[in-house]
Amino acid sequence: MSDQKQPKNESSSRPTSQSTNIVWHDGEVSRADRAKVLGHQGCTLWLTGLSGSGKSTVGVALEHALNARGVLAYRLDGDNVRHGLNANLGFGADDRKENIRRIGEVAKLFADAGVVTISSFISPYQADRDQVRKIHEDAGLKFLEVFINTPIEICEQRDPKGLYKKARAGEIKGFTGIDDPYELPKDPEIDLKTGENTIEQSVEQLVAELTKRGLINS
Ligand code: ADX
Repeated sequence: MSDQKQPKNESSSRPTSQSTNIVWHDGEVSRADRAKVLGHQGCTLWLTGLSGSGKSTVGVALEHALNARGVLAYRLDGDNVRHGLNANLGFGADDRKENIRRIGEVAKLFADAGVVTISSFISPYQADRDQVRKIHEDAGLKFLEVFINTPIEICEQRDPKGLYKKARAGEIKGFTGIDDPYELPKDPEIDLKTGENTIEQSVEQLVAELTKRGLINS
């Protein structure tokens, strides 16, 4: 039987369901069966931080390192997902919330499938990140909040896409960290200082955490 259980629609972050006359249909392959095929269980690493903090760069390097160790990993990246699934969302508070709600559900599905899921979204609101944690924990899935802890001064110096410059010039309104909020993670499992560490050191830290927690083999 599948472990992916019917979600309860109890949370304010989950929209009231518009779907009626739907019945949950269990499968015959369990999460443990899938883990046996893959040699590891799934989980979600939720990378949160400012634009330019290094979420995508760390995510890419981690995915590569895990793949080299025989671990099935997959990235869900803010800019990429906004090209497709979330192309209809902007950057107002409601759209950012919906962005994270959708991708939280997608991450949960990937983790349930057995994939080490690496999500890289600014995800500026603690309540939205907590909600993603909740849906994972309710489903018995491991969720690690990873704060890509890079000061805005460094992000702005890096400015890889030239967006801080545009935001400072008033050409982008509501840019995170400039004139839109970023709520610091209250109690992240992992704190990565990409301003002080190399990418390799950050990846080592993440791999060590995954190993310590028994999520991947040493
Ligand atoms: S989130 O806030 O909804 O989590 P997400 O991670 O999906 O954001 O997308 C952030 C990316 O969108 C940034 O890296 C940047 O390239 C782009 N972007 C465009 N406008 C904004 C904005 N107003 N604030 C932050 N990022 C923006």
